Amino acid sequence: MLNFEFQNPTKIIFGKDQISKLSSEIPENSKVLMVYGGGSIKKNGVYDQVAEALKEFDVTEFGGVPANPEYAVLLEALEIIKTKDIDFILAVGGGSVIDGVKFLSGAATYEGDEPWDILAKGIRTYEGLPFGTVLTLPATGSEMNSGSVITREETKEKRVMGGPGLFPQFSILDPHVVHSIPKRQIANGLVDSFSHVIEQYMTYPVAAKLQDRIAESVMQTLIEVAPKVMEDPSDYDAASDFMWSCTMALNGLLRVGTPNDWSTHMMAHELTALYGIDHARTLAIIHPSQLRYKLEDKKEKLAQYAERVWGISEGSIEEKAEAGIRKTEEYFHSLEMDTKLSEYTDEYERTSAIVKERFEERNWKGLGEKQNITPDDAKKIIEMSY
Ligand code: NZQ
Ligand code: ZN
Repeated sequence: MLNFEFQNPTKIIFGKDQISKLSSEIPENSKVLMVYGGGSIKKNGVYDQVAEALKEFDVTEFGGVPANPEYAVLLEALEIIKTKDIDFILAVGGGSVIDGVKFLSGAATYEGDEPWDILAKGIRTYEGLPFGTVLTLPATGSEMNSGSVITREETKEKRVMGGPGLFPQFSILDPHVVHSIPKRQIANGLVDSFSHVIEQYMTYPVAAKLQDRIAESVMQTLIEVAPKVMEDPSDYDAASDFMWSCTMALNGLLRVGTPNDWSTHMMAHELTALYGIDHARTLAIIHPSQLRYKLEDKKEKLAQYAERVWGISEGSIEEKAEAGIRKTEEYFHSLEMDTKLSEYTDEYERTSAIVKERFEERNWKGLGEKQNITPDDAKKIIEMSY
């Protein structure tokens, strides 16, 4: 096992009717900016519960954060934070709203002139403006981690930011919110969380048995509950397992003491930036090709995954590894998700060249757990995904 340090300060409040606890989690007399997305919370009862819980506070609302949170929109909210002296931000939404609030948290305390530099120059946030979240869509794990992904339409970029100052102070996870999520977004959550496990698990063995078993359990739980939540999102028990699995997939616990990959996410982000394809779908496009391209590096873990998660006991290591990749593709297809870029856009042919150029501009010499995925390799992997 590799050396590690682990600290995750986010308090999780999980369960039915827990949104009412907001009032005791936000410091008294706070000036709160409540941030939400396109309005789903006004139709499913979440807005009313939050408004009721916040009635004793001085609250300003900022709605309209789009999926793939847009920099220009967030700058409007940043202006409100500054002019109204906001001292606590509350995110009510999925990964996009939470990530948007993380950007606001970091930008509110950033002393430079150009907030985009936080993303473009990879400036870490050590102390942000305090914030909490009410999660409405299980998927990203953003409710219990310190990462954020922001999109800038003007330049068609999607960049990441983070730092220990960007953990939510608390996150309220009420599985009942899942009842109103459209099937397409449920599938997205199932695939995004599964992909988060793959990024941290499908590397090479380092004698981290517990982390392996926890990762396998998260994947097995997602596979088991997938048909239930897809069929009936109001099934509270299935929604609970779905929600907690998504949080566990990316709250830092699986990562400790192990090598991590994350190159699939970095390539996939470019597909969202260029074509607006949902985050999870871009992962479903890249994963199979990336795993096949790196089969030699990853075959031991792929074979272990095939055996333990999919019950494949026959064949050589290579055969099991390939069977594991096929099973992963079938799982994505079972969630009505296409796994080829050409199934999402007709204009795919220049993608690999653009991504290669961007990775070179950013000086990303080697991605992946062995830092051996060069911009040229990324180009080839993307071409395999056409
Ligand atoms: O905007 P509203 O009207 O609320 O509708 C949203 C949105 O259209 C809807 N929705 C959310 N909760 C709902 C609901 N509809 C009905 N009922 C509910 N209870 O779902 C749509 C998608 O929401 P969004 O927040 O965009 O989805 P998700 O949670 O998948 O977040 C995706 C974003 O997170 C980033 C992605 O790149 C993408 O920008 N990621 C963040 C990560 C992190 N911070 O750790 C890691 C991930 O790998 C990912 O990159
Ligand atoms: Zn993801």
